[in-house]
Amino acid sequence: MAIPVIDFSKLDGEERADTLAQIANCCEEWGFFQLINHGISEELLERVKKVASECYKVEREEGFKKSKPVQLLNELLERKNGGDHDEKVENVDWEDVFLLSDENDDQWPPKTPGFKETMKEYRIELKKLALRVLETMDENLGLPKGYLNKAFNGGQDSKNAAFFGTKVSHYPPCPHPEKVTGLRAHTDAGGVILLFQDDEVNGLQILKDGAWIDVQPMRNAVVINTGDQIEVLSNGRYKSVWHRVLARPDGNRRSIASFYNPSYKAVIAPSPELLAAEAAQGAVVEEEEVVKDSSSSGAKYPKFVFEDYMNVYAEQKFLPKEPRFLALKAI
Ligand code: OGA
Ligand code: NI
Repeated sequence: MAIPVIDFSKLDGEERADTLAQIANCCEEWGFFQLINHGISEELLERVKKVASECYKVEREEGFKKSKPVQLLNELLERKNGGDHDEKVENVDWEDVFLLSDENDDQWPPKTPGFKETMKEYRIELKKLALRVLETMDENLGLPKGYLNKAFNGGQDSKNAAFFGTKVSHYPPCPHPEKVTGLRAHTDAGGVILLFQDDEVNGLQILKDGAWIDVQPMRNAVVINTGDQIEVLSNGRYKSVWHRVLARPDGNRRSIASFYNPSYKAVIAPSPELLAAEAAQGAVVEEEEVVKDSSSSGAKYPKFVFEDYMNVYAEQKFLPKEPRFLALKAI
């Protein structure tokens, strides 16, 4: 089984209705899909790959194989191996990360030629794509155009604007991939995630119907997935699904995940429009799905401030999401 692939350019043509339906199915059944013909030029994507690969070699002072994070990971594994040989190394990810946002651009990898210019250009294009993807979700959910993006923006104040962050990751070759995970299983906390993964080295998997399925590498495709906040806003129609990255014995996997998230101040809740539509259809709320007693509204999730959610998530990222909703103080 493979993750569905959507030709995004068909949204602008005769096959629009069919493409929208395919995207709706991906959001409802998969939580993950791959976009091709998404409008970001091959030329730009090739440059992004180049600077992302180079930055790993250039920025880590000790060089690629002996970078500090990799040294630390290796030490950890060796220490563990000194004890129980079959023991898994817990509470660690075999991942080396550079975080980029508009706010920290003075700290972006400085030594890699072209990194900053290229990643700025890429982030502008990707953010536009994020908004287009959100609009297809608005349309599929029967919400007014721009609804989800507005929900992510906590009001007029630009300080409360939606947040767009990029994580440039490398998953270095791991001597004991059976003992450690590249990135432990989790669901993403935020809104919509756009992932530009390695052309060749695989490792990303999603949990579907109880089985782990590979997100197959596809040259220059953008992988989309929906985070916990989309699940809440859609009242559970769109699920935020478990995924993980396996460590690999050879191959340095590069991935660039960009997160379009609500502002910390944004108030997130199931869309009242959707609740009204569901009530009109006489939708039955299944008892076990209700994570908050929400009386007769049909809401399966509480209403909360995103910052409060992130505080819980920081402690519980690698645990099931349902207790996170329960832990929130509803407002
Ligand atoms: C993440 C994530 C996947 C990857 O950063 O949340 O799931 O392939 N990344 O790096
Ligand atoms: Ni993730």
